[in-house]
Amino acid sequence: MTFTAQILTLYPEMFPGPLGTSLAGRALAERKWACDTINPREFATDKHRSVDDTPAGGGAGMVLRADIMAAAVDHAVERMAEQVRSSRAQSRDGLAGNDVSTSLDTNGEEPLAAVSGEPVEPRLSDGRRPSTSSGLTDLPLTAPILAMTPRGKPLTQARVREIAAGPGVTIICGRFEGFDERLFDARDIEQVSIGDYILSGGEMGALVLLDACIRLLPGVMGASSSGDDESFENVILEYPQYTRPQIWEGRIIPEVLRSGDHAKIAAWRKQRAEEDTRLRRPDLWERHRDAPDQSPSGAQEKDKDKE
Ligand code: ADE
Repeated sequence: MTFTAQILTLYPEMFPGPLGTSLAGRALAERKWACDTINPREFATDKHRSVDDTPAGGGAGMVLRADIMAAAVDHAVERMAEQVRSSRAQSRDGLAGNDVSTSLDTNGEEPLAAVSGEPVEPRLSDGRRPSTSSGLTDLPLTAPILAMTPRGKPLTQARVREIAAGPGVTIICGRFEGFDERLFDARDIEQVSIGDYILSGGEMGALVLLDACIRLLPGVMGASSSGDDESFENVILEYPQYTRPQIWEGRIIPEVLRSGDHAKIAAWRKQRAEEDTRLRRPDLWERHRDAPDQSPSGAQEKDKDKE
């Protein structure tokens, strides 16, 4: 049951970094996920082990070379395929989940992972076909390859959920002025941005993406329902929270939250969530108003399944 993260980075020492502590750290120790790094420098061909060169057409900075990065990506794809194959073999032998370096299952189910180009019919661990109502037929069969770049498609909770439901992910971290575009023409790589700001490299973005995935892995979050109400799961922002002390610096917890009237509390929370979303995130509010039943994360479909 190990979700494998492979990170292509010039700074492997940045991993697992903060993901070695807290919730993600515990999950790592428990082998719910595995963190492997690959340094593209190992695929350099010159004596200086260069991975970059000056931009064609001139300009500042350096560009990551397509040939070197593709060699590293190809190695990552092979390694991931190897892990998936070995995990499937282990599952067949009833050994799944015993070895972090080789096990690669999905979320408590029989591995749905396919080695690149090798289709696998999705099956749950008890041999059942995934049901359509649960949406499991949409589970990814392969581990996607992502490149972190401010030129990428913005990351969403919906995409995070899809990635977390799969066997793992390979993340390429950009540096310098970015990648030679031919890398993306030649390989199936999804370009992802974590926001409209420029970081000094893709490593922080990779950590953000992994953190968002890891907390969704089965058994990682203590209370299984703790993610259900959260912002973006229900399209709008979460309502504000309070805890003891009841009065702090003269500020008192809203009376309704101390009333014990659950219907009133739910109504207050709904109203505050809507108001805050309308004021802070008019983009989310508009989407919610236009399609209140459509969750980008699939959370509402999930909630319906529970009923
Ligand atoms: N690398 C630099 N800036 C980035 C961003 N905003 N998102 C993802 N990767 C990046």
